[in-house]
Amino acid sequence: MKDFDVLNLTEEVIRAYTAQATTPRLREIFASLIRHLHGFAKDVQLTEAEWFAAIQFLTATGKKCDDKRQEFILLSDTLGLSMLVDAINHPKGGAGTESTVLGPFYVPGAPDMPYGGDVRRRHLAQAVPCLVTGKVTDETGKPLAGATLDIWQTAANALYDVQDAQAPEWNLRGRFKTRDDGSYALVTEKPVSYPVPTDGTVGRMLAAAGRHAFRPAHLHFMVSAPGCEPLTTHIFVNGDEYLDSDAVFATKAKLVGEFKTCTDADEARRFGVTAPYARLEFDFGLMRR
Ligand SMILES: [Fe+2]
Repeated sequence: MKDFDVLNLTEEVIRAYTAQATTPRLREIFASLIRHLHGFAKDVQLTEAEWFAAIQFLTATGKKCDDKRQEFILLSDTLGLSMLVDAINHPKGGAGTESTVLGPFYVPGAPDMPYGGDVRRRHLAQAVPCLVTGKVTDETGKPLAGATLDIWQTAANALYDVQDAQAPEWNLRGRFKTRDDGSYALVTEKPVSYPVPTDGTVGRMLAAAGRHAFRPAHLHFMVSAPGCEPLTTHIFVNGDEYLDSDAVFATKAKLVGEFKTCTDADEARRFGVTAPYARLEFDFGLMRR
């Protein structure tokens, strides 16, 4: 039997978790996780009260999660972990469109929409109509027919449908397909900046750090096509006051789009929007596998 102390405990725990780990990757992850977790506790000389506060914080984070609320993803996002994982897995410099975080508000299974379909299932007075068009190509610029664009965003009241009991189901969500020439079109509202939910543990953490909770206005896209790497990204609204201080660190210069004010009556009629409306043109490039 061994006596464990600050000097020998970490190596013993690593040994216990790696000696018979079922895969080499698991062995690598256990060893690094334990080394960093113990290193953190030693670095800050963690007190017992702080350890218990952390247990309570993580317990409360879990209790805040349900099928519509994901406080753990929000915790990962606001600590910059989600963006770090994105950056590790999607290094800059590729030919395709850059990726960014998924965020906590994606819901799989949004309704299939036709070309030019309208995802507004409710009309708030302050909402600005928005037409989004563009193309999906591979990294060489070859159009991708039948690519899927799964989109979601907040409403003009700064809430996602899943946060808003008054919002119709699937409001501002939909799945679009590109036409033979790779083109897509959709009608929505111009996105607005919004605070991440602050009524849970993440809100307490941000307040304790003196950080604001806002994200710059953006439209979420998940773009996929057979034979290509799927892309999860946002398009941000140029000029937004939070572009330089995103609560989840997810902004990238190439993902900022121009939402121009447009008064083209013919186009407005064709897509069923009232002028003036916002108009975004954005092309996506997917990487072939
Ligand atoms: Fe979002």
